[in-house]
Amino acid sequence: MNNIPQIIIAIDGYSSTGKSSFANMIAEEFGYIHLDSGALYRAVTLHGLRKGAIAGGKINEQELVALTEGLEVSLRPRTFIGEEDVEDLIRTMEVSSYVSPVSAIPEIRNFVDSILRKLGERGGVVMDGRDIGTTVFPNAQLKIFMEADDEVRALRRYTETVKAGTETTFDEVLANLRDRDQRDSTRAVSPLRKAEDAVVLDNTYMTFEDQMEWLKEILAKDFGFVFE
Ligand code: DC
Repeated sequence: MNNIPQIIIAIDGYSSTGKSSFANMIAEEFGYIHLDSGALYRAVTLHGLRKGAIAGGKINEQELVALTEGLEVSLRPRTFIGEEDVEDLIRTMEVSSYVSPVSAIPEIRNFVDSILRKLGERGGVVMDGRDIGTTVFPNAQLKIFMEADDEVRALRRYTETVKAGTETTFDEVLANLRDRDQRDSTRAVSPLRKAEDAVVLDNTYMTFEDQMEWLKEILAKDFGFVFE
């Protein structure tokens, strides 16, 4: 494929709908850069846990916000804090259990948004999260909103977590996922919601190949992508 249009693709949706996996596939297929915005919130959460701003079930918001000053988080595409690869460390259940309240803090959202906007301004990116199409890049040319049955999502996340060597149960994963969906959709700042001009992709019964076929049809029809 030559002359691939360099658009911004925003993928939002509920937890564990496969946004990152899909975004990764898209990046590989079209030579785009994949930006996983959730990874940035997770990195801030991990940093807060390590530095004691999150402890004993409590988040000291002021301390956490102060910790982000000068904090260097990068997506290469694995997630780094400074020169440390923290990609696996940000996927633990401990980080998952704090990341929603952390992401509801307005200053933390500003911190993440400014990183994302800088990285995405030139296009040729696929960005996934909760508010990319509504807040971070409301002018993104293509907005996708992903959904799937919550038990199917929990099973996917459970399998992934166990494979990564973390001990957990299906019920714990399902409860965490429902809790995060609830928090993410009802928070005051940039809640998770479908942008009016987003297209819905429900992948409960779809394979990765089905999803790519679905996307290619849209890219060919609406954005002039040419596929051999
Ligand atoms: O996609 P994820 O599960 O790794 O995201 C972790 C959390 O970060 C999620 O519970 C909500 C938050 N998040 C957000 O509020 N806005 C984004 N754009 C991305 C993630």
